[in-house]
Amino acid sequence: MFNIQRPRRNRKSEAVRRLVRENLLSTNDLIAPLFLKDGKDIKEPIHSMPGVVRYSLEHLVQECRELYALGVPCVALFPAIEEKLKNAKASEAVNPNGLYQKAIKEIKNAVPDLLIMTDIALDPYSSDGHDGIVDAKTGMILNDETLEILAEMAVVQAKAGADIVGPSDMMDGRVAAIRDALDEENFSNVSIMSYTAKYASAFYGPFRDALNSAPKKGDKKTYQMDYANSREALREAYLDEEEGADILMVKPGLPYLDIIKLLKDNTTLPIAAYNVSGEYAMVKAAHQNGWVDGEKVMMEMLTSFKRAGSDMILTYFAKEAAQLIKNQ
Ligand code: PBG
Repeated sequence: MFNIQRPRRNRKSEAVRRLVRENLLSTNDLIAPLFLKDGKDIKEPIHSMPGVVRYSLEHLVQECRELYALGVPCVALFPAIEEKLKNAKASEAVNPNGLYQKAIKEIKNAVPDLLIMTDIALDPYSSDGHDGIVDAKTGMILNDETLEILAEMAVVQAKAGADIVGPSDMMDGRVAAIRDALDEENFSNVSIMSYTAKYASAFYGPFRDALNSAPKKGDKKTYQMDYANSREALREAYLDEEEGADILMVKPGLPYLDIIKLLKDNTTLPIAAYNVSGEYAMVKAAHQNGWVDGEKVMMEMLTSFKRAGSDMILTYFAKEAAQLIKNQ
């Protein structure tokens, strides 16, 4: 008796492995999140995210040029706002001349074909460190009051030149409110990438270090999702789709590959995965200790997002991965 079924034949050489390979990470799939801050000539390291820095505008623009030259199609911007500009209403979020809007304009001028994705949520600008308005008496996060500000943020960002707005706040009805406000102002071409299934996650720790945006009180569990749930992600996906989202995102990425697959199987919209700060930090820390080969782990991890069904990946590894792919 011969063993006629030998799956190993399809693995016998690199050439055959290349032929049968099902998923391939491409630079076209990458979105680079970037942190910016006010000032001149700043590249400030974020200790919990080795290799990631906060850029002042001129360096931010230069980084965008380099990313675009490498073939990365999109950047996602996150502002580190000075404490003195933060307040309970997050009013700096809608300042047309604020740092964030300035950055969008400058990048658009310098690298017009690079897509700029924005973040819509109050936390970088909020003295409470929450994504929505906090009721001073009860400490509750006020949904509908927050929607008005989010919609205004979208319009201000669109006016500055944003291509894609990214509501990351998890308020109910925000995609509809933002779509409505954008269309009202003739920005029907501005896309919405909704943070559809955004979980209340400890993996955001290093990001909150980067922006000094951790909640002053409590946690985000009344708006971000419970990590024990998956059916709820479908409900959020149906709502976002109905409300006019163009792309659905799952966040974090690696511990939520099942959610990526679930949404992919239940929508015709493109799916994004956010490979968040804590996932990045773990790989870098283990690499620095000599415990894993960081580069190999990075590629395995990014490819796992493709295998699960992500069309695109927001990742702090974007530049490193793009360089690696280019030199392959
Ligand atoms: C907040 C926001 C967070 C991230 C992106 N937007 C953190 C949070 O919800 O507290 C996290 C990204 C990361 O960890 O890389 N609107």
